[in-house]
Amino acid sequence: MCGIVGYIGQNDTKEILLNGLEKLEYRGYDSAGIAMLNEHGLNLFKVKGRIATLKENVDQDVHATMGIGHTRWATHGEPSESNAHPHKSTSERFTLVHNGVIENYQDLKREYLEGINFVSETDTEVIVQLIEKFYDKHQDTAEAFRQVMGLLKGSYAIALIDQEDQDTLYVAKNKSPLLVGLGDGFNVVASDAMATLKVTDQYLEIYDQEIVLVSRNFVEVQKLDGAVVERKPYTAQIDASDIEKGTYPHFMLKEIDEQPIVMRKIMKEYQNDNNDLKLDATIRQAMKAADRIYIIAAGTSYHAGLVGKEFIEKLAKIPVEVHVASEFSYNMPLLSEKPLFVFISQSGETADSRAVLVKIKEMGHPALTITNVPGSTLSREADYTLHLHAGPEIAVASTKAYTAQIAVLAILAVDTARAKGIELDFDPMQELAIVANAMEVLTAQKETIEQITRNYLATTRNAFFIGRSTDFNVSLEGALKLKEISYIQAEGFAGGELKHGTIALIEKGTPVIALATQENVNYSIRGNVQEVVARGANAMVISMKGLEQDDDAFVLPQVHELLTPLVSVVPLQLLAYYAALHRDCDVDKPRNLAKSVTVE
Ligand code: F6R
Repeated sequence: MCGIVGYIGQNDTKEILLNGLEKLEYRGYDSAGIAMLNEHGLNLFKVKGRIATLKENVDQDVHATMGIGHTRWATHGEPSESNAHPHKSTSERFTLVHNGVIENYQDLKREYLEGINFVSETDTEVIVQLIEKFYDKHQDTAEAFRQVMGLLKGSYAIALIDQEDQDTLYVAKNKSPLLVGLGDGFNVVASDAMATLKVTDQYLEIYDQEIVLVSRNFVEVQKLDGAVVERKPYTAQIDASDIEKGTYPHFMLKEIDEQPIVMRKIMKEYQNDNNDLKLDATIRQAMKAADRIYIIAAGTSYHAGLVGKEFIEKLAKIPVEVHVASEFSYNMPLLSEKPLFVFISQSGETADSRAVLVKIKEMGHPALTITNVPGSTLSREADYTLHLHAGPEIAVASTKAYTAQIAVLAILAVDTARAKGIELDFDPMQELAIVANAMEVLTAQKETIEQITRNYLATTRNAFFIGRSTDFNVSLEGALKLKEISYIQAEGFAGGELKHGTIALIEKGTPVIALATQENVNYSIRGNVQEVVARGANAMVISMKGLEQDDDAFVLPQVHELLTPLVSVVPLQLLAYYAALHRDCDVDKPRNLAKSVTVE
């Protein structure tokens, strides 16, 4: 996690760095800092806290035309001013920002930096001290930078400035995302194009183990051995308005409301002029060839994977296993003869998933990534990519990416079924159109859901979500949404499993939110609701039209039985939103979290 930004040009660096960091805050927000060079030397500002606090602490009278900035999600060392980046070398000649984790920093410290007085607990400070050490030997910053990069093990996106050379930003990347943005008389560096879209839409992708020398009018990409790499820029396809809140109070609410638009966008992108599904033939072939599919994902994307398993098994008749990425390597299942790995990741950067990707590629297995960020690491390193087309998701709690993942998985499953010659009584585009309309109906009922939140979640410390069959999968997502943004302890549970222990936690007033969208389990889940009511629970049922009963708290518009997760999750997202709002929680940036989890 963490976000870095750099600028070298003619304009006021402060503004560009602070604006860029605001856009990168989703990557971590426990401390932040910027460093700028001008005729007076180094100007360094660091704070514990958010970019808003940094802004208040930056001296507005400092003017500079180059600098670097960082927003942090702590790994080594608690959030504090001294652990905040940028970090400087002892002489203050060199200053750098870093996103990633240096695995061998203790070894490097022992081997090269005996006697150096470190002022932080970070792995990053080791890098900047090493650069100073190697500079003393070579008297050449680029050479010192290159040599030090060659020593680092782990992940890094780094930007370095040298007080004695105000014409170059030294940049390097390995496993952490990094782009160089190109301008007229200036250039920028960022973890994500969103940070610098205000100044340019032209970007150079930087690959692992590359170094970049960035000056005002020139950018040179090199391999670690110094060999120059030619690379063409690309135009970032992000609309600047996509990354603004507009009139919404929070990104999360905007993104919940965008879900019908995303459904329609996916329908457009995955359909050709003859109304046939439009998927890359190589993906179709890979799916068809697989005798078992292994879905690898984390958090909300894992929950989407659970729904995807149902689609692929029911429609395409291929067995599917869904694995939490961080656990996969410890208990790797016996793999089938022709496995296909499907990585689901909004960001495409999740380190836990990438570790599995690296491992299975070493084993020679094919991989498909389903992501919202096509140029991301998981996308580049897999054999195939399916794009979610959800537009940037800024709120830390994932909403529209989850429903986009489910929609794309449904299309993939149908496409595979058709390729296998399986006759289906299910037209995904027609059904998704109904879903999009249903989502619109749901997002128009915010007041009702806000009232339900008051009735059920106003003062509680805990809550249960229950469901059977696919509703169980959605109950897991409902619980995750609620706990991550409102800090109410919540658990998603299979309705039938409660009585095997967890029902002991039900007491007078415990909120239980039950989903009833599946005809074949409607009777049983309502039985489970009665069981918790009998023990004092404050229970409510969210049901599908056609299956409702008189006292249900909320009735969902009817959609195809397979696609109910796409609508049943919407009121759960809104419940979480309003619960967080009523508790004065920071909806878009919940504590301890970051949007892109690039550490294992
Ligand atoms: C929860 C949430 C996380 C992510 C998880 C995986 O709202 O957003 O649980 O789903 O960190 O992230 P991606 O999908 O980027 O791999």
